[in-house]
Amino acid sequence: MCSPLTDLAADLDRHLAGAAARFGTPAYVYATDEIEARLAHLRAHLGRWFAVSFAVKSNPNPALLGWMRDRLDCLDISSGGELALAREAGWDAAKISFTGPAKRETELRAAIRAGLGELVVESLREARLADAVAAELGRVQPVLIRLAPARVPKGFGDQMAGRPSPFGVDVEDADEILPQIAALPNLRIIGLHIYSGTQCLKSQAICENWRIFMQVFSDTCAALDLRPEKLIFGAGLGIPYHPGDNALDLAEIAAGIGPELGAFAARFPATRLVLELGRYLVGPAGWFVTRVVSVKQSRGTRIAICDGGLNANLAASGNFGMVLRRNYVMHRVGGDESGTRPQEKQDISGPLCTSIDKLGGGVLLPRLDEGDLLAIHGCGAYGPTASPLHFISHPMPAEVLVTGGQMREVTRIRDG
Ligand SMILES: Cc1ncc(COP(=O)(O)O)c(C=O)c1O
Repeated sequence: MCSPLTDLAADLDRHLAGAAARFGTPAYVYATDEIEARLAHLRAHLGRWFAVSFAVKSNPNPALLGWMRDRLDCLDISSGGELALAREAGWDAAKISFTGPAKRETELRAAIRAGLGELVVESLREARLADAVAAELGRVQPVLIRLAPARVPKGFGDQMAGRPSPFGVDVEDADEILPQIAALPNLRIIGLHIYSGTQCLKSQAICENWRIFMQVFSDTCAALDLRPEKLIFGAGLGIPYHPGDNALDLAEIAAGIGPELGAFAARFPATRLVLELGRYLVGPAGWFVTRVVSVKQSRGTRIAICDGGLNANLAASGNFGMVLRRNYVMHRVGGDESGTRPQEKQDISGPLCTSIDKLGGGVLLPRLDEGDLLAIHGCGAYGPTASPLHFISHPMPAEVLVTGGQMREVTRIRDG
């Protein structure tokens, strides 16, 4: 599992219980000190080569985006809605890139009009549409072309290339498509983008994937005679969610790929290399806190039924891209403070009337009773934003930001 990099661990339960008492449950608690420590750790190992871009899709909470404004180099958005959130959080549009396979004309217009840093073009159709919009606005829009490599190494939890995929231009088609994009008068190709897989916990696979990126980038730049200003590496860095998962070793990645990255950077001295990621930064810095509403003993199994389940946290229920449902790491807030609770295997379910609303099966925890709080780890990314919050109309989860021991409510989506 993933241990906090800060000394938050000692005080974690006090914060989680405090957040639940003040703002209600279910609640997401995000610790900015932990995000800061993770960013420092990332930069210590990979900052020699890379700037860091945060993928808003992983956590679009406006307060968090505002907190990131002076700490991260750039943002990647994937919709007009995320553009609005980033702008409201004070981000300069020039520091924002825009990915996504089905951008609408209205989104393109809003982004280009705002002065978007780079449009990440995913197809010839999109390039033509963006070119027309840029012409209408009297602009020349900087673009990165998203490429989909032919191969993704084994070990990625989600794969966006290496097989039929809606994302980007397949490398096999690049010779035919890229010159047509380059000929569009109101777009200026300033670089390339690859995001081909994510949630990888194997250092060797990450290194191998970046090796593939470097090859694709080199070949494409040579073919287009492009001296890129920016090359975006979709990081793919995974985080441990389940008992027994081991955290990635960034030192191992840096040692494994550093010399090749150094040589690559030397060949492109005027190019900014960027790592694009979400979950690695914010995932382990977030906890989902839910309260046990009822306990049922059912045919030999103790089931703790909680006030937040799949509706508030789809990912932890195993229904967000997991092939086989596995328990997330979780603990009873307060542990066994009285020393009287036997450790027991229990099932954890949510409040919905469906059997898929399950947060844990046979989880070994101090016996849970009505009113207890349960904290699920690794929930700082793909939380409320990736959950069917309106399903069965339960209250929206609260969102709480803890910074230097201070707590404030930052709930984005409210009831009503
Ligand atoms: C284009 C793109 N960028 C960034 C991300 C963020 O991935 P992660 O949160 O796993 O780092 C994704 C995830 O799907 C993505 O598709």
